[in-house]
Amino acid sequence: LSRQPEKIPAFKALVNEYFESIALPRQPGSLYDPIRYTLEGNGKRLRPVLVLLACEAVGGKVVAALPAAAAIELLHNFTLVHDDIMDRDDTRRGRPTVHRKWDSDVALLAGDGLVALAYQHLLKTDTPRLAQIARLFTDGIIELCEGQALDREFEQAAHVSMADYLAMISKKTARLLAISAGMGGMIGGGNERQVALLTEYAENLGIAFQIQDDLLDITVEQKVLGKDFGSDIKRHKRTYLVIHALEHGAATQQRHLREALGTPNLTTDEVLNVRKIFEETGALSSATRAVRDYIARSRSALDALAASAEVGGLQMLLDVVLKRNA
Ligand code: IPE
Ligand code: IPE
Ligand code: MG
Ligand code: MG
Ligand code: MG
Repeated sequence: LSRQPEKIPAFKALVNEYFESIALPRQPGSLYDPIRYTLEGNGKRLRPVLVLLACEAVGGKVVAALPAAAAIELLHNFTLVHDDIMDRDDTRRGRPTVHRKWDSDVALLAGDGLVALAYQHLLKTDTPRLAQIARLFTDGIIELCEGQALDREFEQAAHVSMADYLAMISKKTARLLAISAGMGGMIGGGNERQVALLTEYAENLGIAFQIQDDLLDITVEQKVLGKDFGSDIKRHKRTYLVIHALEHGAATQQRHLREALGTPNLTTDEVLNVRKIFEETGALSSATRAVRDYIARSRSALDALAASAEVGGLQMLLDVVLKRNA
């Protein structure tokens, strides 16, 4: 019963129904149209589903966590809209990015609006721990901004170590998953140990998720991925793959990669050459192993949690993430 395969799609449907029930104003259209467009996109809803699963795992009622789940997804969508401006990407969820469909001014403001909407819904949560949850949420946003700042600074940095990279993705990506699970656990009435284990589970899942995102960027065709193929290398991002190849590649491979990292406007052929370097240096296979390794750590946290909580849904989520290609 705890591993009902339809649980995750059902929770995703709950989140989407919640969004459909929000009556956003029509005017001004230049604010609400891009917000509606973003929310109607075909997102995986991973973070809000995580909030609901965590709440349920510790014995809470799923509906109690719905406003907070929506808040996390609204916040996530803000980060995507602004991230696409910074990363100069044209495609997201198989459609033009907001700053491409409209312009950057519209995308900035839509992002601002999404943050405010996120708080509006978070504060609807009916829980005695609301102040604690709001602090967690706020601190999470600050860390996420720090992570995004590091991600940008690394584009120009002379040397970025694997430890630097892991600290950066822990902030830009894993933190949001960690607070999703933590908030869900708190709303569900979980005790301190349960919330800590849920957080550890989601933090490791988040690290796996970003390493996998780096891999998908250059291994999955744009039609399937729904995002610009090879965007990271075009933007000179220090991804897991770049760092691994610079640490383990032969001198000529390192030189070719450094050249690519210094070239503006890489062509598709040049991007494919970089992918070849990632293959030949073992960066691709190392990243694949790293994803599995962080998923295994995530699973260990769940095993510890299993003594006091119903972890079937959270286990299934690990499999869903492992199998994703978008
Ligand atoms: C994309 O997140 C941003 C990253 C942290 C890599 P998702 O892959 O969860 O995006 P959607 O919401 O499903 O589109
Ligand atoms: C995601 O990093 C981090 C945030 C959106 C906060 P990416 O820049 O790799 O995400 P995608 O690949 O554009 O979704
Ligand atoms: Mg991006
Ligand atoms: Mg980015
Ligand atoms: Mg990416």
